Amino acid sequence: MTAANEHQSTSPSSAIIAVLAGDGVGPEVVAEARKVLDEIARRGHSFTYREILIGGIAIDAYGTPLRDDDVEIARSVDACLLGAVGGPKWSDPASAVRPEQGLLKIRKSLGLYANLRPVAVMDALLDATPIKPEVLAGTDLLVVRELTGGIYFGRPSRQWRERRGRVAVDTLLYREHEIERIARLAFDLARSRRGSVTSVDKANVLSSSRLWRSAVTEVSRDYPEVTLEHMLVDAMTMKLIQQPSRYDVIVTENMFGDILTDEASVLGGSIGVLPSASLGAPDRAGKRPGLYEPIHGSAPDIAGQGRANPVGMILSAAMMLRTSLGLEREAALVERAVFDTIAAGITTPDLLGGTATTSSFGDAVAQRISAV
Ligand code: IPM
Ligand code: MG
Repeated sequence: MTAANEHQSTSPSSAIIAVLAGDGVGPEVVAEARKVLDEIARRGHSFTYREILIGGIAIDAYGTPLRDDDVEIARSVDACLLGAVGGPKWSDPASAVRPEQGLLKIRKSLGLYANLRPVAVMDALLDATPIKPEVLAGTDLLVVRELTGGIYFGRPSRQWRERRGRVAVDTLLYREHEIERIARLAFDLARSRRGSVTSVDKANVLSSSRLWRSAVTEVSRDYPEVTLEHMLVDAMTMKLIQQPSRYDVIVTENMFGDILTDEASVLGGSIGVLPSASLGAPDRAGKRPGLYEPIHGSAPDIAGQGRANPVGMILSAAMMLRTSLGLEREAALVERAVFDTIAAGITTPDLLGGTATTSSFGDAVAQRISAV
C-alpha cells in the first residue's frame, strides 16, 4: 500500500472516524474492530467515533439509506469504517429504496474510485479451502477494482413495460480518465510489490473493455519496470483458482472486480477474512478520502448469533490505520495479532470448524495487542 499512502508521513495522535455499521452482521464485526482500535488507542492515540446510519437501518429510521447530511459528516472525518448493508427485510425487487444505494452513494459522493482488495493466504489457513495447498501456497495478490464507474452507475438504468412485456436496461459506460486513474494506481502499487499488473476485461465483446484495454496499455508505457498482461474475465475466473500465486496486481472494472473478489475470497479460506480499502483522489494537502470495509455482505442468515468472522473487518481497520491515519506500525501490529490468533487455532466456525465467537475472537486479538 506504499504508493497509496506515501504522502502520509506524519502519525496523528488523534483522529475522527465515521462508523457506518449497517445491517446484519455489520454491527457485530464493527464492534470487534472498535475493540481492537480501542486497544491501539491505549498506545498513545485518541480516536473519536461518529456513528452514521446506513443501509436498511437508515431506511427504517429516515426512509432513505444514507442522508445527505451524513455524507457530509463522512466527508469531513479522517476515515470511515463500514460493516455491511442489506437484508431480506429490504430486498423486495419492486422497492424503489434499497440499502445498497447507501453504499453506492457514499462511494460516489466521496469519489472513492479505487477499491483495493488484498488476497493473501495465511499458512494456518492452507487447509481451510477446497483448493489444494500446493496450488494456494505463495498466493499474495491485490485486486484493484474500479469503484465509481461502469454498469453500477451508468444511466439509463431502469425498467419499463412495453406491449410484449417488461424491458430493463443498465448502462456500462467508462470515460478514459476514469480508466487512466485506476490503472495508474494499479501500476504504482505493482511497482512497490512484485512488478506485475494483470488487467481484466471483456475486450472481445464490449466496447467499454476495448477502451479499457487501450487506456491501460497507454498508462503502462510510463511504467517500463512493470509488466502488463491482459486477460479476458472468463479466462481469469479459471486462472484465479488454477494458478493464484501467479498474480500480483489485478486491475479491473467495477462489476468484474465485484465478482472476481468473491471468487478470490475462496483462496483466503473464507469470505469473512478479506478486507478492503476504498480510496479517492488526494486533496491539495495530500489527504485521500478512505472508506474501509470487509468484502463480505450482511450475512442475514447468521446475524445476531455471534458466528460472524470479524477478521475482514479488523484487517480493514488495519488498512485504515496504515493508509488514512499514517499509523504503519500500529497497522502491522493489528495484522500480526490477527494472524497469530488464527495460527493459535482460534477461529470462528467458517474456518476449520472453529468454535470462537465473533466477540471471543476480537478479545483474543485485543489481548495479543495489549501483550506487545
Ligand atoms: C461489495 C458488495 C457491494 C458491491 C454491494 C453490497 C452493493 O457486493 O462491496 O462487493 O456490489 O459493490
Ligand atoms: Mg461484492
